[in-house]
Amino acid sequence: MVGAGPGDPELLTVRAHKLLQSADVVLHDALVSQEILALLPNGAERIAVGKRIGDGKDQTARQQEINDLLARHASEGKCVVRLKAGDPFMFGRGIEEVRALAAVGAPCEVVPGITAGIAAAELCRIPLTERYRNTSALFCTGQTADYSLSHFSAVIELMKAGTPLVMYMGFEQLDKIVRRFIDSGLSPELPACAVSRVSRSDQALVAATLGTIVEQLRERELPLPVVFIIGEHAVPEGAVRENEDRTDQTDQVYLTDLVKSE
Ligand SMILES: C[S@@+](CC[C@H](N)C(=O)[O-])C[C@H]1O[C@@H](n2cnc3c(N)ncnc32)[C@H](O)[C@@H]1O
Repeated sequence: MVGAGPGDPELLTVRAHKLLQSADVVLHDALVSQEILALLPNGAERIAVGKRIGDGKDQTARQQEINDLLARHASEGKCVVRLKAGDPFMFGRGIEEVRALAAVGAPCEVVPGITAGIAAAELCRIPLTERYRNTSALFCTGQTADYSLSHFSAVIELMKAGTPLVMYMGFEQLDKIVRRFIDSGLSPELPACAVSRVSRSDQALVAATLGTIVEQLRERELPLPVVFIIGEHAVPEGAVRENEDRTDQTDQVYLTDLVKSE
């Protein structure tokens, strides 16, 4: 069970890279980048098992299919890599697959990966924790299995106390979520960032506020996947602005400065 990180192959762990090189079979998600798939050895069988929007497949049946495939290949004595975007356990159903393997007696190693929210924060220089400023950071999903937003009541209380929120899978329901935040007393001026395609060559960042983010995203048509960072901390330090002529301070659109030392 291997975390592929957010997309840039250089953000793979050494352990992940080593296992990919010795894989007989790789079952991968839709979000695993082409650059990482290009690292697979020629002889490795590749199976795409990711969810595709609008493919109409039932999620429970899909997960069962994946569990069966993992168990079948493992029982044939193959080195099977289940490659998941980001970190396998971070909103990734990794533990369900580990349990399914344990149930059939297949040994399984879990290799952590850099999760999209952490990578987004670091690459955009948004400090999720800072000395003397906050003592917690929150990770949440913008979706739940039953599509209710009930989990946000507790989240909002922590945000009111200054805890920054990193939100996965929030794009589809963003307008509803933002309305709920503002109706529950969070300030429309609260900084809110959307980071699209974290660590990829076309990574983009929209730095806005709760009151403006929905409109900003409508105008920008950012490509998915997108992760959000919301809170007083969600102010990127030193990112490169796409259009230097813009003078408004709240609705800034940046292309992130992906500075890497060679
Ligand atoms: C099913 S979750 C999987 C999260 C993954 N396990 C992780 O740790 O990053 C999918 C969500 O993760 C976020 N995500 C994953 N990769 C991303 C990337 N490269 N850029 C932006 N968001 C990403 C998006 O919010 C997306 O809707």
